[in-house]
Amino acid sequence: MGHGIVQVLLRHGYSVALSDASESFLAKGRGRIEKGLARDVEKSRLTAEQRDEALARLTTSTSLDSVAAADFIIEAITENFDAKASVWRELDARAKPGVIFASNTSSISITRLAAVTRRPAQFLGLHFFNPVPVMKLVEIVPGLETLPDTVDRSEKLALSLEKTPVRVNDFPGFISNRVLMPMINEAIYAVMEGVAEPQAVDAVMKLGMNHPMGPLELADFIGLDVCLDIMKVLYEGFHDSKYRPCPLLEKMVAAGRLGRKTGRGFYSY
Ligand code: 3HC
Repeated sequence: MGHGIVQVLLRHGYSVALSDASESFLAKGRGRIEKGLARDVEKSRLTAEQRDEALARLTTSTSLDSVAAADFIIEAITENFDAKASVWRELDARAKPGVIFASNTSSISITRLAAVTRRPAQFLGLHFFNPVPVMKLVEIVPGLETLPDTVDRSEKLALSLEKTPVRVNDFPGFISNRVLMPMINEAIYAVMEGVAEPQAVDAVMKLGMNHPMGPLELADFIGLDVCLDIMKVLYEGFHDSKYRPCPLLEKMVAAGRLGRKTGRGFYSY
């Protein structure tokens, strides 16, 4: 999601220092940002000059030192507590005072992530939705120690990006994934139990419920690995069997059928 968040920030006048684990990830990210901004020019949301000026405000680096000067840091790495905690410890050691720390986590406890830093009062969840340039929602998730000023400044940032911030409390999956993922997981159970083919499950939800994508098409779009990670957070967070990940979901992830990003999930791409 990082490239979508960067595209939106650049489009709204911010300077962005993008950091990723390797030069090849950075090149891929930059390519997607350029493509997204080119789309904005095509659709007359930006002029070609504004696009060039926006791209000139983007710097990239594999070193986290590059974000040391930032006023606002948004982390959007893989949905895994240990990986996120390790990046946040490094960011905490480098970032300047007064900075806001925001995680784009889909489901992990903000309070727990904030506690690995020395500034939990300045830490919160800022949860964007895919595709970021299109979706209006940003979930704003204060942790137990987050100060109201941190929340206010983050809501202002979201509004300045023409997003609609919605404040929710720090519980596993927040609201979005607590409601969405069990629906996707149940759709996968229905396929596993032979109730219907994926196309039929998706047709029911699109035509009967007016969802823009069926749950299995959406799971492929989000990434089946991400869906599984989120189900695990819900299951482990609530200790309730109603959130158990569907064995077919686990099997597909084990096989590397992760959805669009690997060319195969419930559908082929
Ligand atoms: N990236 C960027 N922009 C995209 C895109 C993508 N992957 N897919 C579509 N778009 C843009 C198009 O360019 C178009 O914008 P423009 O014409 O104004 O430039 C606009 O979206 C509409 O696209 P289309 O007309 O081609 O297609 P649709 O009308 O079918 O809309 C959709 C596509 C917006 C993706 C729609 O199918 C949709 O809303 N799907 C559901 C998405 C959803 O539920 N997202 C939330 C996922 S959960 C999540 O992110 C949370 C995380 O924690 C898991």
